This record gives sequence, C-alpha cells and structure tokens, in this order.
Amino acid sequence: MGNQQVKTTTPEEITEAAVGSFDSCPDERTREILQKLVRHLHAFAVDARLTEEEWMAGIQFLTRTGQACTDTRQEFILLSDTLGLSMAVDAINHGKGADATESTVLGPFYVPDSPWRANGDAINIEADGEPVIVQGRVTNTADHPIAGAVVDVWQNSTNELYAVQDPSQPPDNLRGRFRAGDDGRFWFRTIRPVDYPIPHDGPVGEMLASVGRHPWRPAHIHLIVSAPGYEPVTTHIFDADSRYLDSDAVFGVKSSLIREFQRHDPATEPAPPGVDRPWYTVDCSLALEPAG
Ligand code: BEZ
Ligand code: FE
Repeated sequence: MGNQQVKTTTPEEITEAAVGSFDSCPDERTREILQKLVRHLHAFAVDARLTEEEWMAGIQFLTRTGQACTDTRQEFILLSDTLGLSMAVDAINHGKGADATESTVLGPFYVPDSPWRANGDAINIEADGEPVIVQGRVTNTADHPIAGAVVDVWQNSTNELYAVQDPSQPPDNLRGRFRAGDDGRFWFRTIRPVDYPIPHDGPVGEMLASVGRHPWRPAHIHLIVSAPGYEPVTTHIFDADSRYLDSDAVFGVKSSLIREFQRHDPATEPAPPGVDRPWYTVDCSLALEPAG
C-alpha cells in the first residue's frame, strides 16, 4: 500500500491505461474498434484542448440527440450524416469497382416492400408536379443487360415531403419496385423531385443553425438496385439543376450521379398519354458489380 506505482497522470498515461483496459476483450474485432475509438477520442480531446465546460456541452448535446430518437426518427443517424461520417463509412465499404454505379446514403425515408409496378407505370398517385419519365438500363460492368434486376425507387413530392413523413399523401405515393426487362430496361413516370431540408427541428438542426450551415439536400430520386449474383447498390440520381449540389447537408453527392432532366414541349413533340404540359426525361442507367 502507498508505494504502488499507478501511471494515470498525463493524458498519454491515461490513454494507455484506457486502451489497455480492453486488452482481454475476447472478441478481436470489438477490441480493435474500442481501442482505436479510445485512442482517437483522447487524441481529439488533447488536440482541441477540450475544456470541462465544452466536454459537458458535448455530453448534453449527445443526450438531447438520444432523447430526440423515436421509432420513426433516428437523430443519431442524422448526426452521423451531417458530420459526413455516414458517407465516409459508405466510401470505405463501396466504390472500389470503377465501372459500377456509385453508392450514396440510404436516408431515413426508405420504406421496404414498396408496391410492385409495371414498366411505364406512374409512381405519383397525385397529379401535380412537373411530369418526368425516368428510363434506364441495368447492366453489369461490361454493359451486358441484367434481365429481371429489381429497381426500388422513392422520392419526395412537390411539398418537399416523402409519403412516410406526410399523412396527407397516400402511403404508396412516389415509391415503387420495377423489374428490368430482358434487355435490362426499366422505365416509369413520376414528377420532378424538389430540393428539401433534412429534419432540422431537433438537436442536429440546432447544431447546423448554430454553425451557419443550411439543412438542404439537392433534389434526387432514391434507388436500390439488386439482382442475384450482383452487389446491390443503394444510390440516388441528382437533378443537375439543383442549387444545392455542392452543399448537400449530408455530403451525398457524387458527380457520376448527377443527371440532366431534359425538357420536352408538347407544342413541338408528341406528348406521352395524359401529359398536357412540358415534361422531362431523365436517363438512369445503372451498372452492378459481381457479388463478393
Ligand atoms: C434522404 O435523402 O432521404 C436523407 C438522407 C440523409 C438524411 C436525411 C434525408
Ligand atoms: Fe432523399
């Protein structure tokens, strides 16, 4: 007693002690993750010379973030998204095959089991908005069609909201699953998606406002494309006309995913059935890489 040497005085000694406390963790990967997490957290505190008040403000912010989570709202994922962490994890785990369609965030508004629809069907149940025909081909990275590939799509309405956020929309509005034909082709009718703010009435919104960041995402259509034997891809196509392409609140934009919506005029071109206004076409060809 009394002359035992305990070395937890300097930040470096405390870091080594905390890292070492995980040495006998039986699961190697868990040990590696926790030890790296502790090392980086300590290095961050030292680098920023974090004060006790700042540490407490951080704890309180994370507490509010947890308290804002419900069955239908995941404020921690939103925090991860707005810190760029979700896209960093995406980049680490995808994107090695240069010829395949690039991935981006799933986002909180995906609802599985969308209705199956036939090619050419509309996903907008309500008629307002600028008519769009989305057409594309699902191929492998050598440009061969993948017959029967499934294209699961969802997007927001002209009021900026997804059906899952908005009780005034039918639950299946602006979502659907399509199956590519033997030539890999799929197509559907919709309305042009609009720019929208991510949910910003909680702690993440407070954080964005307090640092002078806006909550907007550039207009996009979400897709999950899958086929047996191929890596599925979770992605978007972004509207090239959006003003937020270079300041997406969640860092989801990749140049390869930006698409021109081509305008067509019923005065000069035969309009698709039921269309009496200018309409748009957009190409959404997609390439999958082999599984594994
Ligand atoms: C979305 O695109 O739906 C989305 C992605 C990340 C955060 C919020 C929304
Ligand atoms: Fe979205």
